[in-house]
Amino acid sequence: MMFVSLLIAAALCVLAWVYVRWTRVRQYWAKRGVPHLPPHPVMGSLTFLQRQNPGRWMINTYQHFKTPYVGAWWFWRPTLIINSPEIARNVLVKDFANFRDRLLGSGSSDPIGHLNIFTVNEPLWSSIRRRLTSLFTACKLRALQNLLDTKANQLIERIKSTENKSAISLRILFTDYTSDVIGTAAFGVETKAIIGGDCPMRKVTKAFMTFDLYRGICWSSIFFFPELVNVFRFTFFPKWATDYFTKVFRVVSKQRKDEQNRIVEPKDLVDALIKLKQESDEKNEGLTEDIIVAQAAIFLLGGFETSGSALSFALYELAFKPEIQEKMYNELIQIKEQDENCSRLDISKLAEAPYVNSVIKEALRKYSPMGWLDRIAVNDYKIDDNLTIEAGTPIYVNAIGMQYDENYFPNPLDFDPERFMPENEKNIKPFTYLPFGEGPRNCIGKRFGQISVRNALSHVILNYKVAPVANQPKPNDIEFEKHGLFLVPGQDLFVDFIPRN
Ligand code: HEM
Repeated sequence: MMFVSLLIAAALCVLAWVYVRWTRVRQYWAKRGVPHLPPHPVMGSLTFLQRQNPGRWMINTYQHFKTPYVGAWWFWRPTLIINSPEIARNVLVKDFANFRDRLLGSGSSDPIGHLNIFTVNEPLWSSIRRRLTSLFTACKLRALQNLLDTKANQLIERIKSTENKSAISLRILFTDYTSDVIGTAAFGVETKAIIGGDCPMRKVTKAFMTFDLYRGICWSSIFFFPELVNVFRFTFFPKWATDYFTKVFRVVSKQRKDEQNRIVEPKDLVDALIKLKQESDEKNEGLTEDIIVAQAAIFLLGGFETSGSALSFALYELAFKPEIQEKMYNELIQIKEQDENCSRLDISKLAEAPYVNSVIKEALRKYSPMGWLDRIAVNDYKIDDNLTIEAGTPIYVNAIGMQYDENYFPNPLDFDPERFMPENEKNIKPFTYLPFGEGPRNCIGKRFGQISVRNALSHVILNYKVAPVANQPKPNDIEFEKHGLFLVPGQDLFVDFIPRN
């Protein structure tokens, strides 16, 4: 009897503690005068998970409140959504010293997920970032011209050889291409996804495009509740993919070392990573094999789907805008004609093509694959005269929300590359357009992503006109993937490819 009473008393104490704690959580933003939607008792504001793409949720939240910031909760953890370009600038650039880390993270049982530059925190992040930045200079990326030529030609061949062209899924087509380009550049193995070859690298990227409930829980936990990752031993990459990455890296390192004892002039990302490892070993700096493989793996993961989905959305929009296609085509023809080597599209010349670039910028405005930029405050931080956030509060800059704000981008649902033509681009308010993030922790692969997207889109437009297919949604009716975290199409997208002569 005594024991039962004790049990009941203990249960009541726990309930009372939960109630008091929950009351405090629930009142957190109200007490600070921050606009917010009432939190769910368990999920906080995360009730959108698996029901709505986070990018869509960010747009809706922005449009619902239209305030410089909005309070939210990831489960019971208060978090702040930033809708203001001025505050975004402070967090991402001016006061970056207080916002070096991200909330997300993988567990120590998953070295590749836990040590990559995207998830890693200070002090390791600065040291890795400093070394990797030099891999992505324009000059180093020029070495990719041959790879890009080969893959673009294979992309066109693939379209040419497909009998029913209007049944080509754009998402599969373009992620085959991006898996090949980044997989080959980052791991040094020849991949054949774009010519229909079944290769292990593509198996890895396909696994990332498959959203089952388990992966959904894994990813949500990595992004929004990293403390759970170790408890349930969730991993960024499936174990077989991690083993495959490590094996490939070892084999390729050995091959490259056999070819030349010491890599002096890296010809791709994998050469540059091997060189980093060699130099670190010589200076005893402790860059382990896991750290190096983790970077190659995040280049693949961070690059293939972002670039692939940007390409799918861009081409889909173009199918509905023949006049934009023609303008792009004319610019591309001029670039080709000016070049002595007419058989290829030079990546440096393409980088300077104003209209092609405007089309891609506009696609990334409407469809930023990662439309929210997360940082975590190291110390208490004064957001403005009314609000100081506590150390440890995660912050999400609502980039995609701003990119859909008609004050910054009039008629935001219209696909209008003219916004980004040099004469208009200068009028865009700083920090309202952030598809690659900003500041020292922005996208390290920005230039690589731009080059590969430009290359594929330009080759398609030079070879084909594209047109809508019957019974397909209008661009503004496309569903975004509900089960994933990146903003990617939630359905197959098709266009009609009409050969140009
Ligand atoms: C269209 C293509 C791409 C888009 C839109 C994109 C977008 C982004 C965004 C928004 C971030 C977060 C930036 C921030 O928090 O300020 C990011 C980070 C990152 N991206 Fe990309 N990305 C693209 C392509 C690539 C490619 C091709 C690679 C690798 C080759 C890559 C590797 C990374 C890495 C490693 C990070 C983490 C950087 C760090 O934390 O220091 N991305 N990307």
